[in-house]
Amino acid sequence: MSNPKQAQETGLRRTFAIISHPDAGKTTITEKMLLFGNAIQLAGSVKSKRDDRHATSDWMKMEQERGISVTTSVMQFPYGGRMVNLLDTPGHEDFSEDTYRTLTAVDSALMVIDGAKGVEDRTIKLMEVCRLRTTPILTFVNKMDRDIRDPIEVMDEVETVLNIQCAPMTWPIGMGRQFKGVYHLYNDVIHLYTQGQGNRIPEDKRIEGLDSPEVDEVLGEDLAEELRMEVELVRGASHSFDLEAYRRGELTPVYFGTAMGNFGVREMLDGFVEYAPPPQARETDVREVPAEDERFTGFVFKIQANMDPNHRDRIAFLRVCSGKYQKNMKMRHVRINKDVKIADALTFMASDRAHVEEAWPGDIIGLHNHGTIQIGDTFTQGEDMRFTGIPHFAPELFKRVRLKDPLKMKALQKGLQQLSEEGATQVFMPLDNNDLILGAVGTLQFDVVAHRLKEEYKVDCMYEGVNVNTARWIYCDDPKMLEEFKRKASTNLAIDGGGYLTYIAPTRVNLQMTQERWPDIRFRETREH
Ligand code: G4P
Repeated sequence: MSNPKQAQETGLRRTFAIISHPDAGKTTITEKMLLFGNAIQLAGSVKSKRDDRHATSDWMKMEQERGISVTTSVMQFPYGGRMVNLLDTPGHEDFSEDTYRTLTAVDSALMVIDGAKGVEDRTIKLMEVCRLRTTPILTFVNKMDRDIRDPIEVMDEVETVLNIQCAPMTWPIGMGRQFKGVYHLYNDVIHLYTQGQGNRIPEDKRIEGLDSPEVDEVLGEDLAEELRMEVELVRGASHSFDLEAYRRGELTPVYFGTAMGNFGVREMLDGFVEYAPPPQARETDVREVPAEDERFTGFVFKIQANMDPNHRDRIAFLRVCSGKYQKNMKMRHVRINKDVKIADALTFMASDRAHVEEAWPGDIIGLHNHGTIQIGDTFTQGEDMRFTGIPHFAPELFKRVRLKDPLKMKALQKGLQQLSEEGATQVFMPLDNNDLILGAVGTLQFDVVAHRLKEEYKVDCMYEGVNVNTARWIYCDDPKMLEEFKRKASTNLAIDGGGYLTYIAPTRVNLQMTQERWPDIRFRETREH
């Protein structure tokens, strides 16, 4: 079921996120892409937040980061005849859960690597997440204007550490002060680098053909000869680009450049819009939903509370998976089985502030949330089904919450419920006592939660250590066995914020022994929403 307009709009969309280690250049390259998409006029507008950040306290920094990731959560811009949606992921490691979930809402990813540092931990982790859904990855090796490592060595590292084949698309000519440009291995064009053009769209100075005498004139005969030999070597020793292998997540096309110098980015973007997949079909518990399906469907991958402190609003970010969003349309909110009319969804055209009345597969819309929407929720045009694969990760750090004023219990519960809905923390309520235990993946999350409880819910709380080492979600098909397990293991069982049964283990050894004792009970490290 598809109509031509639906197929056309869907075919135009390219929805992706950037995966990288902090400082590799994600912010910088985002800004240059917006420049190419005419979404901003002068580079520097995104970047200036960084300077602000340095000047402020840690607290403010966090708040500001939150602000930034809100205003730039979704950036939509046209490029090369396509409509590109770039979903931002929070930079700080402690918010990685949010990043993981954002990766479930994209069709491909751009991996930015600092050429001097090579593959770093966070990139490895994010890559593992991309693997779960075989997300195609395009690679940009950044900072060629510095003395980086040998490009062949960098590609080798990507291949061995990340276990993905590399197909160089462009090849750098020199590096650091001697960086002259890139050679496009498939178009047979040399793009020459000029310093100091980072703030605008640089002129594309090109030489057609590696064998052109112009190459010798511009680069000098020695360098030209060296380049020709190197290119021959690289062609022989590396993988060739294979669209299918890229789409299967087995091979990554690699581009070189400098985000700061806004060079090599254009070639990468050209490759991106040409090869990156359009909106893909997505799995639900009932059937696979192709993007071309005419009936509207989508899922919520992120909730952001209190974006505007004066209005206390909460926005749910929904990825459109099929059909079309149209202002005033009626949608079924599947989990609560309710039909809602959506009149005021937000759309995110970075270049055009005017209200957009429709959205297509691959686009993100923001729904005003009055506490009924949770991460992972599915919206349809009446069909009863749920999108699967939006993960919730087992926390590694735990604290018990203590109220300074015991009369504020209600406000505390409300705050924790909303913050856990948003994914800012996870809450566990033991079956055996009235404790409230918070779980986090990174320690900074606790500070954020305390700060936000105070600012947004007027609740002062403290944390205490608690004897919990790790958590696992419990699944069992046999109700009788589950009951028995609940009875016997109740001291270590809790209900989480979403109402799911969780085993909170005091030690790894305890977890292991319990698992051995109950072989038919599944102890899951992730919970699907
Ligand atoms: P992130 O979002 O991935 O954390 O990285 P970001 O873009 O903020 O870049 C991290 C640092 O690397 C910044 O320097 C940025 O200017 C620099 N950088 C980014 N791309 C390039 C590049 O192609 N070449 C070089 N030489 N540097 C690059 P900073 O000192 O932390 O900030 P700033 O003072 O320069 O703004």
